Amino acid sequence: MKPCDSASAESGWQPVIWPAKISHVPKEVFVRPDIFEEELKRIFYGNEWHAVAHEGEIPEKGDFKTFNLGRVPLLITRDEEGKVNVMFNACSHRGTQVETAASGNKFEFECPYHRWLFDSKGELVGCPAKTGDFPDSFKREDYPMAKPRIAIVHGLIMVTFSADTPPIDEYIAGWHDQLAEVLGGDGRLRLLGYQKVIFKANWKAYSDNDTYHAPLLHAAFRMMNWQGGKGTQKADARGHRGFVGELSLPKAQTLLNDPSLIEYHGNDLKKGSVSIHFFPITIAVKHLDSISIRFGNPLSVNETEVHYAYFAHVDDDEEMVRHRVRQSSNLLGPCGLVSMEDASVFHRLHIGSHTPGPAIFQKGVKDEFVMPTEFSQNDEAANLPGWEYYRRIMGQGKEEA
Ligand code: FES
Ligand SMILES: [Fe+2]
Repeated sequence: MKPCDSASAESGWQPVIWPAKISHVPKEVFVRPDIFEEELKRIFYGNEWHAVAHEGEIPEKGDFKTFNLGRVPLLITRDEEGKVNVMFNACSHRGTQVETAASGNKFEFECPYHRWLFDSKGELVGCPAKTGDFPDSFKREDYPMAKPRIAIVHGLIMVTFSADTPPIDEYIAGWHDQLAEVLGGDGRLRLLGYQKVIFKANWKAYSDNDTYHAPLLHAAFRMMNWQGGKGTQKADARGHRGFVGELSLPKAQTLLNDPSLIEYHGNDLKKGSVSIHFFPITIAVKHLDSISIRFGNPLSVNETEVHYAYFAHVDDDEEMVRHRVRQSSNLLGPCGLVSMEDASVFHRLHIGSHTPGPAIFQKGVKDEFVMPTEFSQNDEAANLPGWEYYRRIMGQGKEEA
């Protein structure tokens, strides 16, 4: 079932004609409100899967979480049988948003407007009315909360609003093993907590964050002489991309009073840093022993909300859990060594995107007119197949070479 679409065909949207060079991205796609509205329609409410939660966030029966995708509110529950449900978070009567808490535990959800009551499967179980008040044809079972399509892969709960989106196994073909690797090896995760941010930038500035920048932008990496080891990066024509990095831990660093912050307790240095990015905005990262899933949502053409959810593995002992908490909260997030710089750069990229000329990709581009298919670890060119996918599904043309 598709949500209501506030971006109408008459919204005045004008497709952009892209430069012929595959390495040039028109800056206006970051800043034009009409393009943002069209993206909601074609991408966020279109034929893509979007991560909205991980099962580790709602481990117990009755657990729930709310999340928005674009302007569409969702309610994610674990019902009495232990099954995961995702509903549109709106009453089947007149459409009032039903649940406003970010998370909690309960089996009944009451709409405040006329007190219709839903269970954790979204079934209507009560509505105040006397006999004869409603039409004779009214039956409660005909009024559950509406549901989008869902799929669960390694515990990651994905939704799509389109019946035409390919099945999840086809959608993420080739990425299953890497996704499992990021999610603790098998996706059996336990939530540690969240850091929630709103970036003052278009969602594509956040989602386009490349591997090229890490040792250059992030001062802590430089101060610790942490330049990264060997690694691989791949990208596909659907706009998904991923990275596997061998860890090259800084030796004899003096920056940190507590060097345990950057200890690695895993057993495979070759896979010490693994990330995955599913188009358009789902990102999961395992770096050292920190595991994070970043649930992103575009709020407007100028703002992007991201919930960094941090996890341990369910089999971790208490010491490992403490280590993961310490590492997750100190590497990333508003007090960490990394994320503040990213937020600042996304904002400045967004400000600068109001200027003429394209954004230009260089590192890893061999021929400016030929889409690359192989990438080195720190090539920004790995983002280009995703940009081409975006251009095509947005119906935007291209100049002749
Ligand atoms: S809108 Fe929810 S009970 Fe009327
Ligand atoms: Fe970064």
